[in-house]
Order: sequence, then C-alpha cells, then structure tokens
Amino acid sequence: MMKTTITALALAASAAVANAGEIEVLHWWTSGGEAKAATALKLSLQKSGHRWRDFAVAGGGGDSAMTVLKSRVVSGNAPSAAQIKGPSIQEWAREGVLANIDDVAKAEKWNDLLPPVVSDIMKYKGSYVAVPVNVHRINWLWTNPAVFAKAGAKVPTNWDEFFTAAEALKKAGVVPVAHGGQNWQDFTTFEVVALGVGGADFYKKALVQLDQGTLKSPTMEKVLTTFKRVKDYTDKNAPGRDWNLATAMVIKGEAGMQIMGDWAKGEFLAAGKVPGKDFGCTPAPGTAKSYSFNIDSFALFQLKDESKIAAQKELAKQIMAPEFQEVFNLNKGSIPVRLGMSMDRFDECAKVSAKDFVDTAKAGTLLPSIAHGMAVPSAAEGAIKDAVSQFWNTDKMTAQEAMEKIASAAKTK
Ligand code: BGC
Repeated sequence: MMKTTITALALAASAAVANAGEIEVLHWWTSGGEAKAATALKLSLQKSGHRWRDFAVAGGGGDSAMTVLKSRVVSGNAPSAAQIKGPSIQEWAREGVLANIDDVAKAEKWNDLLPPVVSDIMKYKGSYVAVPVNVHRINWLWTNPAVFAKAGAKVPTNWDEFFTAAEALKKAGVVPVAHGGQNWQDFTTFEVVALGVGGADFYKKALVQLDQGTLKSPTMEKVLTTFKRVKDYTDKNAPGRDWNLATAMVIKGEAGMQIMGDWAKGEFLAAGKVPGKDFGCTPAPGTAKSYSFNIDSFALFQLKDESKIAAQKELAKQIMAPEFQEVFNLNKGSIPVRLGMSMDRFDECAKVSAKDFVDTAKAGTLLPSIAHGMAVPSAAEGAIKDAVSQFWNTDKMTAQEAMEKIASAAKTK
C-alpha cells in the first residue's frame, strides 16, 4: 500500500515536472502593497509546479510597463502574460498577438462568475483573451483622522467642504493634499473632480463618449477650475513624486488627505495601519453615489512552447480561483471580481466598495475610469492626459484654454 502511494506520488511529481513550464509575467506592481499582492499571484502559480519569471516594470499607472511591452512585442519577444486593461485589450487582440483562452473560461464557468460589464472587456469577438483580477475603485479620499482632529477639520463630502478642510489642515501646519506630480496622478485627480463636480451624466458624456459639446461646456470649466484649486493645497515637492510616497505622507501624518484609487489602501495595510482607526476611506467629495472603476487584468500572448502554454492556462485558472481572489485582493486594496465571494475577511472600505459597485451598476452611475485605461482608446486617453497635466502644471493657462486643448485631444485616433 505504502509502496503504491509513493510510486503514485513519484509519478505525479514527474508528470508535473514534465509538464512544468515557465511563464513570464509583465506587471507594474512594485510598491509595498502591490508587491505583496503580486507575490500571492506568483505563489498561486508555483503551487502547480510551474515557474514564474517576474517581469516587473516600476511606474505607477503602468505607462512605463506599456512602453516596454510594445517594444518586446514588436521585436517578436512577447511575455506570456501582461497586465493590460480596458480597451487596450481589444487593441492588442486586433494585432493578432493574443491567445484564445475560451477552453479555460468554459471549464471554469467564467461567464457565470463574472458580471457582463467585466467579461465583455475580457473578450475579443466573443472569445476570452484576458482574465480579470480585481475591481479597483478610483473615487476615494484617504484621510489621516489624527491629523484631521488636530486641525479641527471635518472629512469633506462635497468640494466646498473639501476646501474648508484643506484650509484648516494648512493652518495646522500639515500638507493638506498629498500628491505626486506625475501625469497619471494629475489625471486621476482630474477624473475624481470631474465625477464629483460634474456628476455621473457629465462624466459619461465628457469622458467616456468624448462629446465635444460637453467637453467645452460651463460644467467642464467649473471642473477644471476646481481641479486647479486642489493644486494650491499640495506641497512644492510634489513634482515627480511616486503615488506610494504621497500615501506615505498621509500614513506618517505629514499630510491630511490623498485622492487616489484603492491600491492606496494596500500601502496603509502594508504599513500595519487599521482602517477606521489609523486611516479613513471615504468616497471622494460629491461622488458617494457613483463609482469609477478600474479592472486589472492579464492578457495572454500567443506562444508556441507547449509547457509554456500549459503554465499560461494554469495562471488564468488560478487568477479566477476563490482562494487567490481573496488573498490577492486583501493585499491589493481592491475587491474580488468573481461574483458570489464572501466579503467576511474584508475591511469596511472593501465592503463599502463591493456594495457600491452593485448599487451604482443598478443606478447607472458605475463608470469606467478614464485615467486608468478603462474608458476610451489608449491614443485619446494619452492625449487627454497630457492636456490635463499641462493645465495642472502651467500657471498661466486658463480653464478656457485647457478646455479647448482637452476637446481637441479627445479627437485623437
Ligand atoms: C492599476 C493598479 C496599480 C496602480 C498604481 C493602476 O492603474 O490598476 O493595479 O496599483 O495603477 O500603480
């Protein structure tokens, strides 16, 4: 009996090794919380005997990673899997370089386990070419309660209250708004202000449909003026600062608040901070009833080597497995993308996010993030991002001028 078991195990092990492949995974998860989450992914894959080759390209928001990806694919040396999101998945699929993973999706019943708003993004011409990892909410305000108490400030729910709180924090001698002056962070702030000041309908028309009239409307002007006012409450060292260092300012009490997606929560947690006690998560001013979302996903590239293909399929399967969905998202700050997951082990911020994701979908106020690659084709996104960032960084540019620039950037094909 003993002998049989050992032989069976030995056979199983040699089968696993024979089939074991290496998978090279491109991602940009290099901050404290992100790296913990990426490790969870690596461990899930390694459990099945495959090897993980890390292809991490630092740089929040992933612009550098996407540049490196393009050059690798052009030189005929694509990684097995790459963190690619939203409409870019379709753009890559149109190039004919992505692998069809319908067999995994069918066996694992992804169509039943994903809301259509998610599965549609993962498919090209009806076939799965990418696998989703999580749902991030962008429109959050992260606060340090001790700093707010010291300043006698109240956590804002609208933009008037935001500037009142910012003034109080300034008087108390802290940086009111922790910000990193990189174009994608400026753009994240802009997106959140647009949603809060303009509302969901405005956001949809202006930043999803790229409607020229809405992009040049008085509401857009108000959004831009409010956005620029936020800059007055950032510090002079903001230019170039990485987002996680801005989060660290809130963690350490050097700053009062940060506008950022909930990967910021991953940083608070990695620093041992407790939500509701050491830090607060509140929907950003004016956005409690809307939700701008960002779904991280991995697109799989076509490969020839059988063992690598096996590893690639295993990765796709593991990503959607409940155990991985839980451990990854507990570290990442996001919520599981797989439907029907228990939220018991998640904190209040994640519970609010999960509830709001469902409620806003029903109310029609669940919106794709423009700053994080979910709303419009990448060329238009890049051009608008540059125009928004130029406005943020150019003191003498008026909101009117910025509006013209953004509207013309929106026409980029
Ligand atoms: C990604 C997150 C990542 C963040 C900062 C976002 O675009 O979706 O996963 O943590 O950028 O790098």
